Amino acid sequence: MSQHTNGVAISGPRAVYDLAGKTAIVTGSARGIGAGIAIELGRRGANVVVNYTSPKSKQVAEKVADQVASCGSGAQSAAIQADVTSHDGHKSLVDAALRLSSASHIDILVHNAGNGDDYYLTDITEEFYQMQTDINIKAPIFLTQKVLPHMPKGGRIVIIGSCSARMGVPQQTVYAATKAANEAFARVWSTELGQSRGITVNCVNPGPVATDMYYASSQEFIDSLKPMIDSTPAEARIGEVRDIAPIVGFLCSEESRWVTGSVVSSSGGLLFF
Ligand SMILES: NC(=O)c1ccc[n+]([C@@H]2O[C@H](COP(=O)([O-])OP(=O)(O)OC[C@H]3O[C@@H](n4cnc5c(N)ncnc54)[C@H](OP(=O)(O)O)[C@@H]3O)[C@@H](O)[C@H]2O)c1
Repeated sequence: MSQHTNGVAISGPRAVYDLAGKTAIVTGSARGIGAGIAIELGRRGANVVVNYTSPKSKQVAEKVADQVASCGSGAQSAAIQADVTSHDGHKSLVDAALRLSSASHIDILVHNAGNGDDYYLTDITEEFYQMQTDINIKAPIFLTQKVLPHMPKGGRIVIIGSCSARMGVPQQTVYAATKAANEAFARVWSTELGQSRGITVNCVNPGPVATDMYYASSQEFIDSLKPMIDSTPAEARIGEVRDIAPIVGFLCSEESRWVTGSVVSSSGGLLFF
């Protein structure tokens, strides 16, 4: 064995259910990227609180929770309607996670719920600014506050940001700013929660991903991104949920212990940083 491995064997079978016994909250996980993350964590053995807010998402959220509970890993799941911008919503999510956890722990918190509406600078209203900053900035701060008393050493926090934070895409004044804030959360919280609590915090930045949020954009916006998508280094296509979920799965695992305060570009190479 090489001395550079410090005597630790790095081959051998990989634990398939590497999150068994852990409990996770994934916000906004009825659809899109969040649903993929919930199922990925469940496949790895974690109990998962699946979260939605619109009544019309109840059925799809329950279907995601069923997929988690029936994937064969032994994970349990619950679909919880809760608005992540409200303190009552935070309480509902924390209470649901504690019901799923036999150890009364919340080991994993994934801040995925987001609003991606786009407006030119001249069209931004104070109401829109308030709504988008409440979901994308305020919610991660105050939900994390509520979860921290229950998060043990080894806890994992992942925030879904966006490459938009760094790209200067027209119509994204508020969205890009909120996603830049998400990156800042990872850096600041990694130092606040690292040595003192043993928690890692990372931000995952997808490029364009084929979800409801993407297709809710105007045709003008979608058309404007096509040349960029066609030039994606990894493959000439839009990102898919299956490209993003395993990256978050890794960042929630014990094996990611040496990654914290990072912004992980998950864009097929559209942005390297
Ligand atoms: N799609 C992309 O191209 C892309 C690219 C980069 C980053 N992202 C980021 O990835 C994350 C997920 O995006 P997506 O494309 O998967 O979005 P999506 O398909 O629109 O799904 C958004 C989810 O967030 C939930 N949500 C919205 N507001 C909420 C609130 N106040 N409380 C609780 N849940 C709420 C929605 O709940 P309901 O189902 O109840 O409506 C839904 O489940 C977002 O943070 C987004 O900014 C997306």
